[in-house]
Amino acid sequence: MSANTGVPSGASGNPVPGVRSGARHWDVDGTPATPADRRGPSGRLLARGRDADIYEGGPGLVVRRARDGRSLRHEAEVMEHVRRAGYPVPVVHDVRAGDAELVMDRVDGPSMLGLLLRRPWRWGQLAGTLADLHGRLGAIEAPPGLRQLPDGGCAVVHQDLHPMNVIMTPAGPVVIDWANAARGLPVTDVAQTWVILWSSESPTPPLVGRFLLSRRRALVDRFLAATGERSAAEAVLPDVIERRLANPRLTPGERQVLERWLASVRG
Ligand SMILES: Nc1ncnc2c1ncn2[C@@H]1O[C@H](COP(=O)(O)OP(=O)(O)O)[C@@H](O)[C@H]1O
Ligand SMILES: [Mg+2]
Repeated sequence: MSANTGVPSGASGNPVPGVRSGARHWDVDGTPATPADRRGPSGRLLARGRDADIYEGGPGLVVRRARDGRSLRHEAEVMEHVRRAGYPVPVVHDVRAGDAELVMDRVDGPSMLGLLLRRPWRWGQLAGTLADLHGRLGAIEAPPGLRQLPDGGCAVVHQDLHPMNVIMTPAGPVVIDWANAARGLPVTDVAQTWVILWSSESPTPPLVGRFLLSRRRALVDRFLAATGERSAAEAVLPDVIERRLANPRLTPGERQVLERWLASVRG
């Protein structure tokens, strides 16, 4: 790492289980990433999310760049904070290129969404795993300087903790994509995942999307039951839906679902 990143080197930390250098990479929907010939500043493009591009970064490493070129320093810092508290995240090695590139361990495995598609009978177990990841994160106090949510809470909240941001390794789930991490109440994070699970359009082909839709209610119900926070999450839903509606990357369809939902929960 560079001397001035403020991010401890992963080399001295515990490696994330399941990280293997040069192993096969899986994209968000559980299929191998397209072997693009595009080369970014740091190597071959491995995957594209809604917000960031992920490049090969040398043996066992990837480089994350936000497409708007913003600083990824706060993401790196919160990742290291939760990792030190025992939470499963990729080890951060460096923040470079004027903070625009985050170098971290490459984590191999399908996303939780990919696993849901390939092993649909495991949906109940996966909903439980997602709830468990929420519970563990909600027990970690936020570091100083993390953006405060209006709910006044003091735990780390991820705000995007859904099945596309969990990589399932043989040694357990690993949580990626900490762009929206903040300080808040754990129940806000549960409600946020509820809203994402319920309103997001599938990034998968239409047939697969229909399959997912048919199981969406069961998945949400099992997730909420496993958190034990359904009623508390209901109480914060209007605020969470409203905040979600401020996201400029929503599709028109997602916006419509959220607007109707907001109207119904406000009575
Ligand atoms: N540390 C990592 N190791 C392996 N693949 C990763 C890693 N981080 C991200 N990816 C891949 O890149 C995709 C997009 O990354 P993500 O951080 O979720 O970006 P976005 O903010 O755009 O959603 C992920 O779905 C995953 O396939
Ligand atoms: Mg993501």
